[in-house]
Amino acid sequence: MNSTKVLQASATPAPATRYTATAIGFHWLIAFGIFAAFGLGLYMTSIHGFTPTKLKLFSWHKWLGVTIFALAVLRVLWRATHAAPPVAANTPAWQARAAAGAHHLLYLLILVVPVTGYLYSCAAGVPVVYLGLWKLPMLVEPSETTAALLKVTHIWLNYTMAAIVVVHALAAIKHQVIDRDGTLARMLPFLR
Ligand code: HEM
Ligand code: HEM
Repeated sequence: MNSTKVLQASATPAPATRYTATAIGFHWLIAFGIFAAFGLGLYMTSIHGFTPTKLKLFSWHKWLGVTIFALAVLRVLWRATHAAPPVAANTPAWQARAAAGAHHLLYLLILVVPVTGYLYSCAAGVPVVYLGLWKLPMLVEPSETTAALLKVTHIWLNYTMAAIVVVHALAAIKHQVIDRDGTLARMLPFLR
């Protein structure tokens, strides 16, 4: 190879094969935030009566949910301007399509799930005071019918998201352990 060809070859960047630190940071910060908000949501609603602890946990759940929403907005904006690495070589086309579909749905749900929780709170007539410091706007007029509808929507979208996350995580583990194509290591670099 003459020197011009060498220069041309090195000027063409090879496609990245793993996620960047920013992508990994967003992924796990939001994933663990959602696990915590989901667990807290189930726990707080299982407490009988109207105790001070229950009220405190409802507030924590809302603050955590609002924080997840803010992170999700940043993540989607960041992702819109930064491509993901290509799927592992030899991945069947249907699997690549299924993974991309699941990722799009998850991006949508990490935005919509907190929004339904927030709107439910407004419709139920309970303002959200973020971290106990800032009263966020009441975006929906209090109404029993709207509140009931938003509550069911919040709950069912949560279970839909949980089902997709389970399949998503199992698929990642199957690729890592059975196919041994390093898919999970792309998001968990210490595995490589
Ligand atoms: C990604 C973020 C969120 C997740 C994963 C999440 C998850 C959950 C879960 C699992 C429940 C219990 C559902 C059940 O009864 O089976 C719940 C309930 C609830 N969530 Fe969220 N939530 C999120 C964000 C929010 C936000 C931002 C708000 C409000 C600002 C909110 C307000 C509520 C309220 C008020 C309930 C109680 C519903 C009831 O009275 O039964 N959530 N959430
Ligand atoms: C609430 C929990 C989770 C959410 C919302 C979520 C969401 C996402 C999204 C949106 C992507 C696509 C990233 C992109 O290409 O822009 C992704 C990728 C990925 N996630 Fe998750 N995830 C969650 C939990 C998990 C768990 C528990 C695991 C593993 C056990 C996991 C493993 C992975 C892996 C390996 C990738 C990269 C897939 C590839 O290389 O094509 N995720 N996740």
